[in-house]
Amino acid sequence: MVSANDIRVKYLKFFKDRGHVEIPSAPLVPENDPSVLFTTAGMHPLVPYLLGQPHSAGKRLVDIQKCLRTDDIDEVGDTIHHTFFEMLGNWSLGDYFKEDAIAWSYEFLTKELNLDPNRIYITCFAGDQDAPKDTESAEIWKSVGIPDERIFFYPKKDNWWGPAGATGPCGPDTEMHYDMTQKPHGPDCKPGCSCGRFSEIWNDVFMQYNKNEKGQFEKLPKPNVDTGMGLERTLAVVNGLDDNYLTELWQPAIQKISQLSGLQYSGNEKPFRIIADHIRAAAFVICDGVTPSNKERGYILRRLIRRATLQLNRLGIKSYVSAAGELVDVFI
Ligand code: GLY
Repeated sequence: MVSANDIRVKYLKFFKDRGHVEIPSAPLVPENDPSVLFTTAGMHPLVPYLLGQPHSAGKRLVDIQKCLRTDDIDEVGDTIHHTFFEMLGNWSLGDYFKEDAIAWSYEFLTKELNLDPNRIYITCFAGDQDAPKDTESAEIWKSVGIPDERIFFYPKKDNWWGPAGATGPCGPDTEMHYDMTQKPHGPDCKPGCSCGRFSEIWNDVFMQYNKNEKGQFEKLPKPNVDTGMGLERTLAVVNGLDDNYLTELWQPAIQKISQLSGLQYSGNEKPFRIIADHIRAAAFVICDGVTPSNKERGYILRRLIRRATLQLNRLGIKSYVSAAGELVDVFI
């Protein structure tokens, strides 16, 4: 079995060997960005540098950013969604662009993680009134070995990233999806569908634009690269598991819930996953200084705890506070 730490170490080394400097994760509570409640992506702390300000660590950075996203909280309970997750990212601040970013992504997936190249599917931006179709990325993917039939073009809602708030740096992205089951689950099954066949593990964002207050996309003085690889999903894929919660990141908590409830994970997957996810997220949020309240960050924290409590109740666990405490201990 490959461990989460094997992936972290490999990733940081791979990009350090290619001239990147490691920077620490920023806190979940954004330090300089009032437009968002939580750090939802690695770009938040880097917005000034994506807009052109020089970064003290240079033009090539690598990091593992803790992130919290609650926009798809209702999806948590399936095999691949989490509210809190770790995102591995490599960054070019006006330095390398599509050619290197894509070639390194492919090399890392196929040579470092030993993923089967035949199971990698790619999506690229289809183009619209704001930016052209990204045929350039598709050509680079073809040059590294991905055939035409595994490259798909999708609109902005799927293949565009940012800005983090209402305005700021953004651009088209290209996403890497892994074929988990190698079986179509229906006639329209393709990367990005929610049937469980594909897991999106990494995206390379080509930040070439600044969305201004009028909603216009202005070209940035220098284009950047922002990539994001989800550790939890990648760990599952690398270990051939079609459920992230079967990995070592989650199994100790799943086993603890089983011990507390006297129930098996199998047959009760949804409540087990929601409890594990929400308690872990709440622990990290509290760690960064948030306390439960009825507004903003405190409200989100309260919601996570409340939703976890509801599922603990469903599993027949009445002593919520001590159960939550035991689960937090597992994650610590
Ligand atoms: N690299 C952008 C994101 O997935 O957050």
